[in-house]
Amino acid sequence: MRLSKCYGIEDFRRLAREKLPAPLFHYMDGGAEDEVTLSHNQSAFSGLALQPLFLRDVSVVETSCDVLGQTIKWPVVLAPTGMSRLFHRDGELAVARAATNAGTMYSLSTLSTFSIEDVGAVSSGPKMFQIYLHKDRGLTREFIQRCKEAGYTSLCLTVDMVRAGNRERDLRTGMTMPPKFTWGSLFSFALHAEWSLQHLMSPPLELSNVVHRVAEGSTSAMSVIDYINGQIDSTVTWDDAAKIIEEWGGPFAIKGLLSPSDAVRAADAGASAVMISNHGGRQLDYSPAPIQCLPAFRDAVGERLELIVDGGVRRGTDVLKALALGASACSIGRPYLFGLAAGGEAGVARVLEQLKSEVERDLALLGCTSLDQIGPQHVMDLHRPEFADVTEGVEGAKPRYRFGHLKQL
Ligand SMILES: Cc1cc2nc3c(=O)[nH]c(=O)nc-3n(C[C@H](O)[C@H](O)[C@H](O)COP(=O)(O)O)c2cc1C
Repeated sequence: MRLSKCYGIEDFRRLAREKLPAPLFHYMDGGAEDEVTLSHNQSAFSGLALQPLFLRDVSVVETSCDVLGQTIKWPVVLAPTGMSRLFHRDGELAVARAATNAGTMYSLSTLSTFSIEDVGAVSSGPKMFQIYLHKDRGLTREFIQRCKEAGYTSLCLTVDMVRAGNRERDLRTGMTMPPKFTWGSLFSFALHAEWSLQHLMSPPLELSNVVHRVAEGSTSAMSVIDYINGQIDSTVTWDDAAKIIEEWGGPFAIKGLLSPSDAVRAADAGASAVMISNHGGRQLDYSPAPIQCLPAFRDAVGERLELIVDGGVRRGTDVLKALALGASACSIGRPYLFGLAAGGEAGVARVLEQLKSEVERDLALLGCTSLDQIGPQHVMDLHRPEFADVTEGVEGAKPRYRFGHLKQL
């Protein structure tokens, strides 16, 4: 398969699978335990239908929106994902450049393989830095200072990594960071000679943001699970979050919430946004799909917070479903990583171009010319197939189903 033949995200996934040695593909693609949440993230979107309205002038559509203090050209941001050089030698630099060219925001992970400063230097677009609180609390203060100096526009704190999720695919393949050539995986590395050569000829992989303070971030191979369990601080509370938000003093998201009551606490702590996320199904299996949580989140916080839906977004139609149910924007992880593995910066650019054009086309097909025209009247729950009563323009009539009709999905 070639990049020019990739259309939907599933095509990019297939090409990524062809290009990557098995331990790396499964690290990117997999989820926790039985992967119920991983598959549910996507099937929850498939359980929703879109109801279009016709005979409106949709010749010009506008997809821009404001997220975390920045105007972006379309309502999808790139979620933080660690260690992108595993998938292509240009790693985070390639993704950040493609995001800027596509008019959207890139989020850099604490566990990246290029540093805060490296990414700051190649990307002039909106940038968010994602924090994992390490046991070495001095690191967080240092991150905040470095992000201010490197021109990052927002921060997010990921809260769902108090222990590493139980990713059995990684246990089976013996995945480590940096990858280790073992007898078990040797065959797969040999079959993927292009990746293996790139890897051998590039500078050693390390966790660039932490390596000067955390010895385990260096080139000695260890499992991701061991790193998380050894270094990440699981004593963190809402008081700590409030202090970090105050110290940053700018737009701030809490990433990884799944309960509306936590969203209220995030607003009370001073956050500007919540990323409703189950870490792409990589942490607690059987946690709910973010799109299912969204209506109750919006009910709980009203307009106090921006809500970003993260997990299972694969199509422009998924983005529109989320906006219809009250999301401010969506974010994607694996889709752009598949593009990165498939073709470096050009692969990420192609993924973003296609998703952006789907959002534009689908918005027009739905009968809307801007994002603020989308509402709950545009979605129907396929598990309870009553028609949403679209009564716009009918005197005296009111829509029968609002957010509430989706609560029991
Ligand atoms: C390979 C990989 C690495 C990830 N690393 C991080 C990370 O370092 N920090 C973080 O907050 N989330 C991380 N995530 C989760 C993503 O930010 C995002 O929540 C998730 O990928 C969204 O689901 P999707 O892949 O279905 O779009 C990672 C996800 C993947 C697939």
